[in-house]
Amino acid sequence: MKVILFGATGMVGQGVLRECLIDPGIERVLAVGRSPTGQPHAKLSEILHDNFLDFSAIESRLTGYDACFFCLGVSSVGMDAERYRHLTYDITMSAATTLAKLNPGMVFTYVTGRGTDSTEQGNLMWARIKGKTENDLLKLPFKAAYLFRPAGIQPLHGVRSKTAWVNAIYVVAAPLLSYLTRVAPKYMTTSEQLGRAMIEVARDGYPKPVLESEDINAI
Ligand SMILES: NC(=O)c1ccc[n+]([C@@H]2O[C@H](COP(=O)([O-])OP(=O)(O)OC[C@H]3O[C@@H](n4cnc5c(N)ncnc54)[C@H](OP(=O)(O)O)[C@@H]3O)[C@@H](O)[C@H]2O)c1
Repeated sequence: MKVILFGATGMVGQGVLRECLIDPGIERVLAVGRSPTGQPHAKLSEILHDNFLDFSAIESRLTGYDACFFCLGVSSVGMDAERYRHLTYDITMSAATTLAKLNPGMVFTYVTGRGTDSTEQGNLMWARIKGKTENDLLKLPFKAAYLFRPAGIQPLHGVRSKTAWVNAIYVVAAPLLSYLTRVAPKYMTTSEQLGRAMIEVARDGYPKPVLESEDINAI
C-alpha cells in the first residue's frame, strides 16, 4: 500500500508512522504536516503545508495513494466550540474531500475518540463535533471509511506526547497502563496496537465502520 499520513508529529501519528515504516506491506508513506517529523527513512516523504483548508497547491502530489491515516486532531480542553470545530471538522473535511476527489479507490481511516456522539445532539461539545465529522466522512465517495475511537492510548517504542509533563506521567504509569490494556481493553490500547489495527483495516477491511477501543485491541 501507498499511504498518506496526517498528524505524523502528534502522539497518535508517531505511533502510526512507526508501524507503517516497519510494515513490509507498506511501500510508501507521505506525511503531510505543518512541521517535519524529523525521522528520515527511505519509505517516507514529507510535504510541509501551511493551509489545511486549501490543498490545491499540492494536489498533484496527493494522487496515487491507497489509504489515508488521518491522525491530525486536538484536545478540546480550554477551547471554544468555534475553534474546536475549525480544527476538527473543517480541516478534516477539507483534506478528506480533496483526497476522495483525487483517489476514489482510497480507504480513509480517521482517529476520533471514545464517546463520540453519532447523534450530533448530545451535551458534550467535542463529542457532537467529532460525531458530525464522522458522519460526514462516511458520505464521501471513498472505497471505504473507518472511524477509530480509542479511549486511553499508552505510547510505546519512543512515541512521545508534545507535552513534557504528560510524558512524565506516561513513564511513571507505564506498568499500570500495560495492565489496563490487558484487563480493560475498552479503556486502554497502545500506540502500536492502534497503528497495527489501522493498517490491517485499511488493507483487509472491517465488518463495520466504527471501531471502539475493544475492537482495536482485538485485531
Ligand atoms: N492521545 C490520546 O490519548 C488520544 C486518545 C483518544 C483519541 N485521540 C485523538 O487522536 C487525535 C490525535 O491526538 P494526539 O494525541 O496525537 O494529538 P497531538 O499529540 O496534540 O498531535 C496533534 C497533531 O495534529 C497536528 N495539528 C494540530 N493542529 C493543527 C493545525 N491547525 N494544522 C495542522 N496540523 C495540526 C499536530 O501538528 P504539529 O506537530 O505541527 O502541531 C500534530 O501532528 C485527536 O483527534 C485526539 O482527539 C487521542
